[in-house]
Amino acid sequence: MQTTFAESKPGAEWWRSAVIYQIYPRSFADGNGDGIGDIPGITSRLDSLAELGIDAIWCSPLTKSPQKDAGYDVSDYRDIEPLFGTLQDFDELVAKAGERGIRIIMDLVPNHSSEEHVWFKEALAAKPGSAARNRYMFRDGKGENGELAPNNWESVFGGPAWTRITEADGTLGQWYLHIFDKSQPDFNWENPEVMEEFDSVLRFWLDRGAAGFRIDVAHGLVKEDGLPDVVLNDSTMGGQQGPDDKPKDRVSPHPFWGREGVHEINRRWRKVLDEYEGRAMCAEAWVMPLSRMATWVRPDEYHQTFNFAFLDTPWDKQKLQAVIDESIEEFSNVGAPPTWVLSNHDVIRHATRLSYDQVPKQGDGIGPDYEQPDEAKGLRRGRAASALMLGLPGGAYVYQGEELGLPEHTTLDGSVRQDPTYFRTNGERVGRDGCRVPIPWTASEPAFGFSKTGESWLPQPESFKNYARAAQEGVVGSTLELYKSLLQVRKQYALGNGSLQWQNDLVPAGAFAYQNGQVLVVVNFTNEPFALPAGELLVTTQLGLAAEGHLEADQVAWIRA
Ligand code: GLC
Ligand code: CA
Repeated sequence: MQTTFAESKPGAEWWRSAVIYQIYPRSFADGNGDGIGDIPGITSRLDSLAELGIDAIWCSPLTKSPQKDAGYDVSDYRDIEPLFGTLQDFDELVAKAGERGIRIIMDLVPNHSSEEHVWFKEALAAKPGSAARNRYMFRDGKGENGELAPNNWESVFGGPAWTRITEADGTLGQWYLHIFDKSQPDFNWENPEVMEEFDSVLRFWLDRGAAGFRIDVAHGLVKEDGLPDVVLNDSTMGGQQGPDDKPKDRVSPHPFWGREGVHEINRRWRKVLDEYEGRAMCAEAWVMPLSRMATWVRPDEYHQTFNFAFLDTPWDKQKLQAVIDESIEEFSNVGAPPTWVLSNHDVIRHATRLSYDQVPKQGDGIGPDYEQPDEAKGLRRGRAASALMLGLPGGAYVYQGEELGLPEHTTLDGSVRQDPTYFRTNGERVGRDGCRVPIPWTASEPAFGFSKTGESWLPQPESFKNYARAAQEGVVGSTLELYKSLLQVRKQYALGNGSLQWQNDLVPAGAFAYQNGQVLVVVNFTNEPFALPAGELLVTTQLGLAAEGHLEADQVAWIRA
């Protein structure tokens, strides 16, 4: 199979081939020692990211927020959260990153605000049916006295998606919708005032130099008229895969996920971005199958959409080959590059996830009671998956810490957990804290160099010292040096703008090989080592491998063939 993407225009269409590094601000680098990462911390570490060789940074929300869902509950869309710094700090970050050729992408959260947003406070104070209520999804309850929720929708974090309010006069009143935590009321995207507000928010950050947006829960904005019950209850984000790893046959169409009406909003925002030079937006849209996901990146909609089908695929030759083929085909049908991703702040880190045959449902996390991972196997496969991914044509996202081979923290105690999922399910689903633990910079300093005081908003496991960045710097075979080489070769051979051709006849049955331009990427999925195909060895996950050597289990080699 041979697919070529449209020639990329280097400046304007940088996103087609970009490697974008996700920073989870709370956990990246703490500048002032309060145990929470912040913008000055990010700015002080820019050189390390420039050395890594990334093109852009996506920061999870930096905007003002009571942090009930780690910033995905925004109380002011035009200001920076004081925990993270100030607007000035942000401007400085954009400028200093720009000096290093790195763009800054904001995280925009349009599905819901925080309960502390001024609009929601106004809505609570106003009367049912008022303009202030109409910015959100308020409804009367069912039952004789309105004591039952308006429908059966469930929160992604567990429990009902509706909360009943007490009206200003002290009586029990209407209910409001929150697909996530009750501190995150859903906006009413039928309301032009909401649409206009977000156009203006987009422009606010674009004017300030943001290179674009990662758009949160982009597939959830539009709800079905009349808000009918969900028939098959599939309202959790973990419901992407059904039995046999097949995408679940969702009630089609679902009353709030991936509704057709969202495409109009996509187009509206695309027009706003097109008023500026070289900006891009990436959708967090959990819509399956890939043929549907690809409709999100038609030429007048999003530039990118995270390829979650790829992320959801286990370490299996056939399944990976199939999802790669399907992705390239579906995305190129609409003229878009695929956007590969293996980890983010919502999923189990891939250096842990891939060690399991049976992975916990997404969003559920791993706690001390769960079968503990095989760390060595996870790291081996995690590195291999990264080397497999970064050779592919298209864009790619790297989640902070994966360049260190960082595993999930799988033994966090309930007493330190912060994810609303944990609380809304009474600990039944431990949630996503395990992938959000502050990252290690140095092996011997307090909090492994994350914070000079040793404070850390989530405790780091002892094992993190083995993954510290400084301890990997310049060390042959370290995961950090592997990533640097992968990104450097990827750039040198323009793999992001390349094409893919399978070359499986060059390797045994348990392996696969694909050609992208001059580079042959070989992956061994079995325990049987085999002789490498001929050519110059450019980069490999396997320590000590030479050009005529044998590629071992879960190892990858990039060869100039
Ligand atoms: C997205 C974010 C996740 C957040 C949720 C609600 O899925 O990635 O972290 O909890 O939206 O905003
Ligand atoms: Ca701080």
